[in-house]
Amino acid sequence: MESMVRKLSNGVNMSSIGFGTYKLGEEQDVIDRVKLALEIGYRQIDTASFYGNEEGVGKGIAQSGVDRKDIFLVTKLWNDDHGYEETINAFNKSIKKLGIDYLDLYLIHWPNKLNSETWRAFEDLYKEGKVRAIGVCNFKIGHLEELKKIAKIMPMVNQIEIHPCKTQKDIIEYCKENNIQVVAWGPIMRGKIFSLPLMLDLAEKYNKSIAQITLRWHIQNGVIPIPKSSNEERIKANIDIFDFNLSNEDMKKIDSLNSNEDVSGVPDNTTYLDL
Ligand SMILES: NC(=O)c1ccc[n+]([C@@H]2O[C@H](COP(=O)([O-])OP(=O)(O)OC[C@H]3O[C@@H](n4cnc5c(N)ncnc54)[C@H](OP(=O)(O)O)[C@@H]3O)[C@@H](O)[C@H]2O)c1
Repeated sequence: MESMVRKLSNGVNMSSIGFGTYKLGEEQDVIDRVKLALEIGYRQIDTASFYGNEEGVGKGIAQSGVDRKDIFLVTKLWNDDHGYEETINAFNKSIKKLGIDYLDLYLIHWPNKLNSETWRAFEDLYKEGKVRAIGVCNFKIGHLEELKKIAKIMPMVNQIEIHPCKTQKDIIEYCKENNIQVVAWGPIMRGKIFSLPLMLDLAEKYNKSIAQITLRWHIQNGVIPIPKSSNEERIKANIDIFDFNLSNEDMKKIDSLNSNEDVSGVPDNTTYLDL
């Protein structure tokens, strides 16, 4: 059977699909959906201090009855909290809200001017065992190259926007070469994927939904997708993607949809590290 985990560069296992929690709703909705996702079989939950839902995510996990050690919990440092002390304080706030005593993965949410000090704090949190893995989001190759100059520990993960209209092959290739696991946010293009004729054809061919075809494409690319849904049927369907394979030809066809489209307007000229 296909493995449901991917091994990070430090040997830690990360589930090969995660549950996104951005805009899941009010606290009770967040609690209910996180519990549901865990009951259905998701083992990776993706949140961020910016989402304002860490309490709900924590309560959902606690109420799910799933062992903490079987859950891979991810949260992120927001832009206002860069700097050494600020990072440590923000981390402590996040784990308090989540109601946990260690985190599985802490990510820098966006590249930011103060990354060198921020990264030093990340490395210390990792060395102290407070977090099992550290990483970044929305880093382009240039940002990663800059980080390489100061990092004692390289990020284990880079979480970036990827979907068939923004395939990010260059960053994926770079990350593979540098042993950085890529995670895809916006993996089903926040719903925009559903109007593409090729995806409709493939859904018919494989007797799967367009979301399932897209999520399968991520898995076969070695990328971890973290789809968000508030709907029980869709939460179930999004993880039901381990019983079929897209042909190489169809993988390439999906790749050819790339137009570098951003669904959320990622700034192209994000400031590089201030070293
Ligand atoms: N690091 C970053 O900078 C960053 C940025 C953005 C997001 N993220 C993370 O990535 C996660 C996923 O990204 P995202 O939420 O932006 O976009 P997404 O997962 O691509 O799309 C979510 C949207 O698709 C709909 N949907 C989900 N499953 C569906 C299905 N099977 N069929 C039809 N529609 C479906 C959802 O509606 P319903 O809820 O109604 O099903 C929702 O409107 C976020 O929740 C967050 O955890 C990280």
